[in-house]
Amino acid sequence: MCGIVGYIGSKQAYPIIINGLKRLEYRGYDSAGIALYDGTDIQLAKTKGKVADLEERVAQEISKKGTLGIGHTRWATHGVPNDVNSHPHFSNSGDLVLIHNGIIENYASLKIELINRGYTFKSDTDTEVLVNLIEEIKKQENVKLGKAVQIALNQVVGAYAIALFDRKKPDEIVVAKLGSPLAIGIGNNEFFVASDASPFIEYTNNAIYLEDEEMAILRLGREIRVRKIKDDTLVNPNIQKLKLSLEQIEKGGYDHFMLKEIFEQPSVIKDTYRGRLLANQGIIKLGGLEDYIPRFTNANRIVIIACGTSWHAGLVAEYIFEEWTRIPVEVEYASEFRYRNPIITEKDVVIAISQSGETADTLAAIKLAKEKGAFVYGICNVVGSTISRETHSGTYTHAGPEIGVASTKAFTTQITVLTMMALKIGKVKGTISQTDYMMHLRELEMIPTHVAEALKSNDKIEEIAAVFKNATNFLYLGRGVNFPVALEGALKLKEISYIHAEGYPAAEMKHGPIALIDEQMPVVVIAVNSNHYGKVVSNIEEIKARSGKIIAVVTEGDTEVRALADYVMEVPKTPETLTPLVTTIPLQLLSYHIAVMLDKNVDQPRNLAKSVTVE
Ligand code: AGP
Ligand code: GLU
Repeated sequence: MCGIVGYIGSKQAYPIIINGLKRLEYRGYDSAGIALYDGTDIQLAKTKGKVADLEERVAQEISKKGTLGIGHTRWATHGVPNDVNSHPHFSNSGDLVLIHNGIIENYASLKIELINRGYTFKSDTDTEVLVNLIEEIKKQENVKLGKAVQIALNQVVGAYAIALFDRKKPDEIVVAKLGSPLAIGIGNNEFFVASDASPFIEYTNNAIYLEDEEMAILRLGREIRVRKIKDDTLVNPNIQKLKLSLEQIEKGGYDHFMLKEIFEQPSVIKDTYRGRLLANQGIIKLGGLEDYIPRFTNANRIVIIACGTSWHAGLVAEYIFEEWTRIPVEVEYASEFRYRNPIITEKDVVIAISQSGETADTLAAIKLAKEKGAFVYGICNVVGSTISRETHSGTYTHAGPEIGVASTKAFTTQITVLTMMALKIGKVKGTISQTDYMMHLRELEMIPTHVAEALKSNDKIEEIAAVFKNATNFLYLGRGVNFPVALEGALKLKEISYIHAEGYPAAEMKHGPIALIDEQMPVVVIAVNSNHYGKVVSNIEEIKARSGKIIAVVTEGDTEVRALADYVMEVPKTPETLTPLVTTIPLQLLSYHIAVMLDKNVDQPRNLAKSVTVE
């Protein structure tokens, strides 16, 4: 989901594209590549690593000439980061060259079909399948590139922002968008295409942001043509005059990457289950899990190892897995597990959760578990990361690069993967009823909508933040599957606002923490409709009786807690086991706004690193 840049016009394309890729580096990536049409042929260079490495590769290997070109920074989803899997990708004939941000979910079946028709593949990517599908259709249907793209994309399931050109028709670039961002810059008889406007804002501020399921043909000497992919009908393009600064563009118009990533959660949760959760058919397909189901169904127990926010996701998984699979689950801090000489046998399954896939403690814990004979399953957000390669198998979250040090979208996409795993294993084991199974599939499919709804309270939550921004201590309380969310909410506040906060099971108050309660102590209570609701109401009354200030996360329409709490933050109604996916949203926003009001460095808090690769 990283960066695409393209140019066609009268200027030299290379400097525009390479500088454009540098503008997109903030999005995080693992590889980079460029293809230039030099007037006769396509010059292509690509490499694992940084744009600087690509510049060296270009200097060694190809000419920089040409006024048509495309460039890419890759965030791998299919195929580890290496030179061959980097973009751009040629079609078999060498005539077409394509770059792609996103995921082609049905690439495997399309690839088999193309292989049967004599196509060969150099890479392990889904993208190389797409460029050859387009070539095959162009040949078979004897149509122009634009039409071939339109037909091909109607056969594709997934997300994409693509740009491609044909060396035999070097007066146009074809672009298309579904799920991944794509902006078109319109100059004077020249066109730019990029993942956002930062690569071309210095050349033109006339831009079109393609809508989902739209494509465009950028042909020299002609007005841009935007079409609907579904039926090829022309669309009247909405040409905007951009007034954004470069920095604003990089953050998608948000003030911080953390806020951008909080608001990306509806789309990245959908990306994470796209092609995997087929609710109408009652199917969950997780490539890394299919061959290892018996490991789980025959396991003595599941041990989850992780750190920080990922550890909190593991605690949520404990509730979910035990509820649906009836397999005992233990959740361990990786840093403790690795030094404890734990009792692990080959009858145990270990799940390692890590956004970065590089956390030293988690990696060490994995190695120890493997030495002791356990089967280790990884849940990572970075394809090809060390942990993803060290585990026996695994499932990637498709959260895209998480730039803010405080983890947000990684947490909700981790829970999405863990929920799908638990549902699938429970279904195979027969420990979840068909009714419950189907209901949860449908409800999980609705989660992006519910998260988007929860995000609408952003302004109200900002007002609450203003009331409590000078508090020196917070308590976060939750019960059941929302106890880990209380811990996560407290961590979010601590790590970006530097205010001390503690998460507790709500029932634990009477065993000590209630001594802390006074009118200076804000208490955030997760009080959504659940089996624990009545008990949580009692906890709230206990706190009120001691003058504590209550900020409650409630199910929309709640009246009982609303009457007791000083402030409420509403979330849509969801089945109890899925509530962490929505209750965490107001807590992320609350910590974000308090930190901003305290003028903290939200994206790079003091003393913290995005990936703790040291012990
Ligand atoms: C969470 O906001 C922190 N950035 C931190 O606790 C993080 O979750 C932890 O370091 C684990 O990182 P990982 O998921 O990349 O392994
Ligand atoms: N799915 C493609 C790949 O893995 C594109 C990834 C991206 O968005 O950079 O190569």
